[in-house]
Amino acid sequence: MPKITFITADGARHDVEAASGATVMESAIKHMVPGIEAECGGACACATCHVYVDEEWSARAGSPDPMEEDMLDFAYDVKPNSRLSCQIKMSDELDGIVVHVPERQA
Ligand code: FES
Repeated sequence: MPKITFITADGARHDVEAASGATVMESAIKHMVPGIEAECGGACACATCHVYVDEEWSARAGSPDPMEEDMLDFAYDVKPNSRLSCQIKMSDELDGIVVHVPERQA
């Protein structure tokens, strides 16, 4: 199973295993990673699952599609490596991905 490392704003590391095909957001919720709220349940309609993809991984994770980009406008403190974690589907290619959880969500 692919692994994800979440680094929260306080610097704590949360290593979780993701079911293949699950999103980064679903994996965070399942493992109770603090800071990922996901109020809309993954419908790309809330921006409370905002994360910063670690620079080493941003190319592999890809860029947001137009719908995700529109919703990112509602996220707090958006950066070039911002993504909505409900829109990143886990695969073996993303095994080991590192994402940073923002200090606060929108
Ligand atoms: S969970 Fe709402 S946009 Fe990702």
